[in-house]
Amino acid sequence: MVKSVYTSNFDAIKNIMGLYGIEKFDLDCTYSKGNFWKDLPSPTYKSDIYPINETVIEASSENLPFEDNSMKSIMWDPPFVIVGSGKSYKNDKVGSSIIAKRFEGFGTYDDLTSNYYNTLKELYRITDKGGFVVMKCQDTVSGGKQYFSHVMVMNMAYQIGFYPRDLFILTSNVRVNAFNGTKWTKQYHARKYHSYFWVFEKVKPKVQYDLSKSISQDLEVNQDTLIHGPQPSN
Ligand SMILES: C[S@@+](CC[C@H](N)C(=O)[O-])C[C@H]1O[C@@H](n2cnc3c(N)ncnc32)[C@H](O)[C@@H]1O
Repeated sequence: MVKSVYTSNFDAIKNIMGLYGIEKFDLDCTYSKGNFWKDLPSPTYKSDIYPINETVIEASSENLPFEDNSMKSIMWDPPFVIVGSGKSYKNDKVGSSIIAKRFEGFGTYDDLTSNYYNTLKELYRITDKGGFVVMKCQDTVSGGKQYFSHVMVMNMAYQIGFYPRDLFILTSNVRVNAFNGTKWTKQYHARKYHSYFWVFEKVKPKVQYDLSKSISQDLEVNQDTLIHGPQPSN
């Protein structure tokens, strides 16, 4: 049985592949060192904006050298940390987060938002009808504010035309989201010990998330109940 919660990338990805009939991914567009594929079949195409060697195509996930509708399955594991100073962490060696040093980060949350949106649009373009985009995603606290990136990503993907088919949670014994080694004296948000894998399918969405309609209808009902109290049923 495939569950919605796992404790390792390997278990989560293996079960996603099993459930959605992916024997091997057509593309990993943020390949990095390919840690995901140590004990799993390596994707047919690998790309990254900073390729580690010549087997990895140098390309931004926002502008990929692939034909429209050419991929059945894509893995996307973008950076999720905000490193500040408007620079990619690669050019800024100051700081202490191991995650940020290895995997890069965005200068601002706006940079992250723009990269996620442009990449989702590009992945929609190259995904074949009925194909899957699997995205590893983490929420983040930056500048004292809580950013639920996984919610934003779902809204973007839905708006672009994907069906949010599934959501997996990856739990960790170590905090997944740290940067700068800052010693906070007071805690304002729960420390994060989890991340997500979204599964987006390129099919007509089977669930409508038109909030403007359903919320206004619900509000009318609730306000009526608030003013007049629950009505007795005859
Ligand atoms: C979290 S790591 C991926 C780790 C990978 N899944 C693994 O198993 O080793 C994020 C990667 O995204 C790459 N990256 C950052 N911005 C990118 C962009 N715009 N286009 C493509 N790759 C990008 C970074 O170079 C980094 O290698």
